[in-house]
Amino acid sequence: MKTAELFEAADRYNYADWLISEWGIKRLASGTQGDIFQHPHYENIVVKVFDTDKAYAKYLAWCLDNQSNRYVPPIQSTAKKSGLNFVFFKKLTPAKHTVVMKMLKDIVKAAGEIVDVQPNEISSLQDLWDGEWARLAKWSKDKDFAAFAGFMAKATRSSSFYNDLHDKNVMMDGDQVVFIDPLGQN
Ligand SMILES: Nc1ncnc2c1ncn2[C@@H]1O[C@H](COP(=O)(O)OP(=O)(O)O)[C@@H](O)[C@H]1O
Ligand SMILES: [Mg+2]
Repeated sequence: MKTAELFEAADRYNYADWLISEWGIKRLASGTQGDIFQHPHYENIVVKVFDTDKAYAKYLAWCLDNQSNRYVPPIQSTAKKSGLNFVFFKKLTPAKHTVVMKMLKDIVKAAGEIVDVQPNEISSLQDLWDGEWARLAKWSKDKDFAAFAGFMAKATRSSSFYNDLHDKNVMMDGDQVVFIDPLGQN
């Protein structure tokens, strides 16, 4: 099936049912705002389809500008059709909570005490507030993480968005932690 036909589905039918029943495309997951499908041709590509999701749209724009950041999901392309947004990106695997917390501990340890973030006192990345993100942005020795933390600090400082980094919004690209959907909208 061509990408154009995938989009056409959105014109005519409920896209999810249509993709599943007509094309046998597998829905891999449903999140709170979007659906994730297996790309019909490429085993290592998934397609995220969503209509309105300001929080995700904000992050997606940042991801497209920061594709060299290793914490950012590798995106192949994006498209908009009939009010639906399509994101074609690399298929990732679930992240273990312990792996995510170890990553944070290592980053905090490398930054030193000045960062003033206590990984032992938080149970999830979701517990970090904007001031802590700002300190991580300033002091993290991992420049890619610092850039992501800067994005989170700025976004969560506004009353429009909150930190939604629970474990299902973090995935792995091999051994690398990747943030797929870090914001929620108030
Ligand atoms: N690149 C991916 N590869 C494999 N599964 C994914 C990928 N992106 C998302 N998923 C799955 O889809 C779920 C929902 O994705 P997410 O982007 O969080 O959507 P929502 O905005 O609806 O919460 C994730 O928790 C995960 O299980
Ligand atoms: Mg999500």
